[in-house]
Amino acid sequence: MVQKKDIDWGSLGFSYVVTDKRYVANYRNGAWDEGGLISDDKVVMSEDAGVLQYSQSVFEGLKAYTTADGHIVCFRPDLNAERMYNSALRLEMPPYPKDKFVEAVKQVIAGNEAWVPPYGSGATLYIRPYMFGISPVIGVKPAEDYQFRIFVTPVGPYFKGGARPIDIKVSDFDRAAPRGTGNIKAGLNYAMSLHAIVLAHKEGFAENIYLDPATRTKIEETGGANTIFVDADGNLVIPKSDSILPSITRRSIHYVAEHYLGLKVDEREVYLDEVHNFREMGLCGTAAVICPVRAINDHGKEIVFEDNNHGVMGPVLQKLYDTLTGIQMGTVEAPEGWICQID
Ligand code: PLP
Ligand code: COI
Repeated sequence: MVQKKDIDWGSLGFSYVVTDKRYVANYRNGAWDEGGLISDDKVVMSEDAGVLQYSQSVFEGLKAYTTADGHIVCFRPDLNAERMYNSALRLEMPPYPKDKFVEAVKQVIAGNEAWVPPYGSGATLYIRPYMFGISPVIGVKPAEDYQFRIFVTPVGPYFKGGARPIDIKVSDFDRAAPRGTGNIKAGLNYAMSLHAIVLAHKEGFAENIYLDPATRTKIEETGGANTIFVDADGNLVIPKSDSILPSITRRSIHYVAEHYLGLKVDEREVYLDEVHNFREMGLCGTAAVICPVRAINDHGKEIVFEDNNHGVMGPVLQKLYDTLTGIQMGTVEAPEGWICQID
């Protein structure tokens, strides 16, 4: 056991801390090199790198946990590997091999063992794989060379106040075009959301809920998380759309709801004008875990989720949260293949 860093784990927010090691691999002359851990946290590249000019970059996010019995694990890294593979193809980048991705995740966690927050601290280790065009491009075309990296940073809750229900607003901006890039994890999807999130924060909201750009009648997702709803019968309703990110947390919640909690799950298009019928709404993602929504503000009209309206998350979200985090931290038995042990 390494000596853990002297950090007040419980007071961490969701921010960046430079840790000891990062993983780097380079794609040159049409092939990925071996890759490995390095200590230097700086990236040096051409002023004309593809990522700097035409935003050719994709990324991922997953977490490592210390389990109740003291092991370090991460959650479904194979799904991050696959999603990043698909993201890269969409941006004409050479995908990083999926088995090497999982291997690299394991190496970078092991190399930063002292930074993995202890069990029960409320913090986790956030892992950020990313990849970008590093060689010069001036005509609009893909770069020739790429870099794949992973850094890690210990984090606390994504939203201030932990699991307290948040208020979100219907954004007047669109997040993704109908046949655009909403279903991949590309930096460009977040660049365009920055103006909208700054406005939302100024108005006192924690996040934006984006509607489908074609009709602006259906729920898509927030800037950094998918959404789930609980209907009047206590069952789960999950918005379906081709232009939202296929969240690994949301897909895991779907399985947990059906197979652990015996809930009915309806994955379908969800209209903004029906959500007043729901009792609970949650945001779900690696960073957000499950964050309850108290109300959606639609241009001054509040749609309140009654079971999240008393300062804590509603009962169904709470059960999903407890089961999912129990699986991640080793107190609830995991489905085959969900937990990847590091040590
Ligand atoms: N949607 C968006 C836009 C995100 O950025 C994220 C974060 O990764 C998610 C959803 C949640 O995905 P996951 O559960 O795989 O972290
Ligand atoms: C994640 O949940 O991993 C994300 O990438 C969300 C991000 C906006 C912090």
